[in-house]
Amino acid sequence: MKTRAAILEEGSKAFEIRELDVDDPGVGEVHIRYVASGLCHSDLHLIDGDIVPRFPIVAGHEGSAIVESVGPGVTKVEPGDHVVCTFTPNCGTCRYCATGHSNLCDLSAYLINPAGFPDGTFRYHGQGRDYGSMCLLGTFSERATVSQHSVVKVDQWLPLEPAALVGCGVPTGWGTAVNSGGVSAGDTVVIYGIGGVGINAVQGAVYAGAKYVVVVDPVEFKRRTAIEFGASHAYATAEEAAAKVTELTWGQGADQALITVGVVDEKVVANAFDVIGKTGTLVVTGQAHPDKLTIQIPGALLTRGEKVIRGSQFGSSNPQYDIVKLLRLYDAGRLKLDELITKRYTLDQINEGYQDLRDGKIIRGLIVHDRR
Ligand SMILES: NC(=O)c1ccc[n+]([C@@H]2O[C@H](COP(=O)([O-])OP(=O)(O)OC[C@H]3O[C@@H](n4cnc5c(N)ncnc54)[C@H](O)[C@@H]3O)[C@@H](O)[C@H]2O)c1
Ligand SMILES: [Zn+2]
Ligand SMILES: [Zn+2]
Repeated sequence: MKTRAAILEEGSKAFEIRELDVDDPGVGEVHIRYVASGLCHSDLHLIDGDIVPRFPIVAGHEGSAIVESVGPGVTKVEPGDHVVCTFTPNCGTCRYCATGHSNLCDLSAYLINPAGFPDGTFRYHGQGRDYGSMCLLGTFSERATVSQHSVVKVDQWLPLEPAALVGCGVPTGWGTAVNSGGVSAGDTVVIYGIGGVGINAVQGAVYAGAKYVVVVDPVEFKRRTAIEFGASHAYATAEEAAAKVTELTWGQGADQALITVGVVDEKVVANAFDVIGKTGTLVVTGQAHPDKLTIQIPGALLTRGEKVIRGSQFGSSNPQYDIVKLLRLYDAGRLKLDELITKRYTLDQINEGYQDLRDGKIIRGLIVHDRR
């Protein structure tokens, strides 16, 4: 089967559209036709060098699709099913899946490098070479063959375009607040960075009953959007936000600080650590190059205030459960998805879409694939 896909070679400064061959589904695999794919910052890290995959790679990891055919032994879905792809596969049987942490499934070891299947094979090929697929998905492609562990069947009546965002940004942001941060009624939350992830941290914090949701983003459009999504205060700088939090909490500090900036550095971490009060929780969800030391804080204050610092992968969500749950909240009118999509693009316009992300013009851009 042929497909058109946005790929990156080592050193690529932009996505390039290439025609590739996609394998038929093998044992436990499904062949899918992507409907839509969100422009998450994590794919930009592949170009900027903050995530280093095996190249060449078909990019994209936030998508929705329709199942076209299934390989032997597939019991989870059948042709015609609507699915949201999960960027962390869940096998159901490894230690992490078996203990309720399927966002940390052992199959995650293959997501970036080799970005290929555990048996050392790949499903995309072209010019005599194997192409990996970002997070074992490669959603910037018209078609793909993926493991059944990478798809979650969703209600047939829901629109697949907004559903694509529930493959990464929505559960990651929502869960950063609700699961990893443990936001509860009456809390004061500070969120650094309002992109496709941070805006959903706003949605999660508001839904969980936070009294104040204070956001920080240098881009005015992002701050305005956060207020529309229920944030109580929005500032261009961490210093302004910290002063307001001191006032709002009579000096006690925030209950949670959530870091969802595009590239995490020690400055934003230090600001977030300072803004939380005793027993407060700091959640690091944004990424940086894995060799970079991004957490530089005074340990004595961590000890004396019993502060908590934790990472968050996929918002500590369980893909199989939370993707369906969030879509049903959308269906019930309790979660905004359509409003997250600032602009739609064709696959050929992918570089324009990522330039808009760099320029702070979009909350989430969405690639809508041709129906063919
Ligand atoms: N841990 C996970 O499971 C997971 C999943 C998805 C994405 N991510 C990561 O989350 C981060 C955010 O992704 P996104 O798609 O929302 O990115 P994005 O580029 O759409 O949004 C980032 C926002 O941060 C703002 N920003 C940048 N520096 C800032 C600073 N110092 N203070 C305040 N705001 C600042 C930008 O203006 C922008 O609005 C990325 O690092 C991405 O790789 C992590
Ligand atoms: Zn993502
Ligand atoms: Zn597992």
